[in-house]
Amino acid sequence: MAAFTLAHVSDPHLPPLPHPRLSELAGKRVLGYLNWTRNRHRYHRRDVVDVLMSDLQAQVPDHIAVTGDLINLALEAEFAPALAWLESVGPPERVTLVPGNHDAYVRTTAHRFAEDWKSYLAGDAAPDPDAIFPSLRRRGPLALIGVSTAVPTPPFMATGWLGKSQMEALERLLATLASESAFRILLIHHPIRSNARAKRLTDSSDLRALLKRYGVEMILHGHDHVHSTNWIEGPNGSSIPAIGVPSASALAHGHYPHAAYNLFSIARDGNGWSCRQMVRGINDARQVKEIRRVELL
Ligand SMILES: [Fe+2]
Repeated sequence: MAAFTLAHVSDPHLPPLPHPRLSELAGKRVLGYLNWTRNRHRYHRRDVVDVLMSDLQAQVPDHIAVTGDLINLALEAEFAPALAWLESVGPPERVTLVPGNHDAYVRTTAHRFAEDWKSYLAGDAAPDPDAIFPSLRRRGPLALIGVSTAVPTPPFMATGWLGKSQMEALERLLATLASESAFRILLIHHPIRSNARAKRLTDSSDLRALLKRYGVEMILHGHDHVHSTNWIEGPNGSSIPAIGVPSASALAHGHYPHAAYNLFSIARDGNGWSCRQMVRGINDARQVKEIRRVELL
């Protein structure tokens, strides 16, 4: 059987940022708006997203995972253009999304992403509108498990949180999947391991306990805007690769690299799996080139 290919992009922070209404500029959004107009607009570019995504589409992946932060300040006017972008990436059958903290930036619009982008977020089963997460989608040999860590936070904080009810539902889901032979992938915006207190997943120790007990084959995340591979403890002394990726719109700045995406080729290999990772990203000339290949599993 041919390998199943899964592309992974994250954190497009889709430009341009619409002009906020004055009534929308309160509290945390003021800081976010100043940060965008002073800094971020220079490093998050629409032409970069477009060139990256057209290279990704040329690879014709079987499925595409997007691990959050489609938008910036969760202004009303950001949701529809983000949906249009998702539709340009592919239909919901071919694209799976989990939300990031910027998609639920402030309390007033924290419910909006789940309304507008539901077809890309929801699992295969008819979704309970109040409980989309954890979602489960089956594509080829994959079981894609989506969780939401997107919660509004105080200024200068970008933490994530799964919460008790989602964690309990996730445990039930992982327990069911443990008896199957699917290639289980956890899609989550926040990395499970983080040294940055203000950006961390606050209930990561509970999640790590679940992963150690039930396991998954791979974890894909965003949030950090850098290339990363961490190994998380799985059942019986096994290790689970947890892969991060730069922002899909980024020009390199500070310690953040240029935009890139991951392309995984996943196939059965005897009783186990083979999983090859290819990383492609833009260079200084804004051309997309292969950065490296890794035999992950
Ligand atoms: Fe982000």
